[in-house]
Amino acid sequence: MRHLMNPLDFTVEELDSLFDLANDIEKNPAKYAHACEGKKLATCFYEPSTHTRLSFESAMLSLGGQVLGFSDAGSSSASKGESVSDTIRVISCFADICAMRHPKEGAPMVAAEKSSIPVINAGDGGHQHPTQTLTDLLTIRSLKGQLGNFTVGLCGDLKFGRTVHSLINALVRYPNIHFIFISPPELRVPDYITDMLQERNISYEEVIRLEDCISKLDLLYMTRVQRERFFNEEDYVRLKDFYILNKAKMELAKDNMLILHPLPRVNEISVEVDDDPRAVYFKQVQYGVYVRMALILTLLGITCE
Ligand code: CP
Repeated sequence: MRHLMNPLDFTVEELDSLFDLANDIEKNPAKYAHACEGKKLATCFYEPSTHTRLSFESAMLSLGGQVLGFSDAGSSSASKGESVSDTIRVISCFADICAMRHPKEGAPMVAAEKSSIPVINAGDGGHQHPTQTLTDLLTIRSLKGQLGNFTVGLCGDLKFGRTVHSLINALVRYPNIHFIFISPPELRVPDYITDMLQERNISYEEVIRLEDCISKLDLLYMTRVQRERFFNEEDYVRLKDFYILNKAKMELAKDNMLILHPLPRVNEISVEVDDDPRAVYFKQVQYGVYVRMALILTLLGITCE
């Protein structure tokens, strides 16, 4: 039995197969429409979510399976003191596979150790968000035709943004990636990530102004400031509108630069950018469903010929 805690749990070759499967699902949805008949997905979300939880549920329903779960710790037995270890043992009796989001880093891993069904980390604190990374990689591969040879700008809250941490971890395995980290000093990428990049001899730079580097980028990954991880509201209010990507800034960007965003968006991308063909963050949502379908099939060991 296999779980997914971190994008690095899959080799580059395994990810290629997963993305091939996701692209086949995109082209031939009918072939997969009954693949998970009789199977159940549990979504155990101890933190708010629209995109990840409903993407998982849509994925399982599109495979002909069924879904159950909770979307709020307060409505689960966690509010009565049940541990994650006990909850997953219970969920293992109800479902065939579980996607878990939790505010505590490592909680899905604790669950996986006690589980008798595959567990997928659907985001743990400020740590990792592997299925968002699979979504991001599939989007890039599908729209650019490759996963290497890019200058990648990551902009916004690089301190608390788990999607950023997961994506950097995953991209370092592809050739010729140059990172530009664009953040205010208070929200710079954690030292453990820059230490890892230095150890691996991967080039990166850190800048404060998006205007100073946008013209160099092949990919721009925008992120919101993670209000829920701040210790005080004053700091959040001071930093929340530090970056606003608008039409004027997009005029400085390459014609084929892609703008990605894990969503939800707050103010960091002006709605006037949404009609720009380089803005692919809503297409990214659709790729998220295909890749989660591919992941569910893979972890359940289901093949469709
Ligand atoms: N991208 C993402 O994790 O969004 P949700 O918090 O809505 O799941």
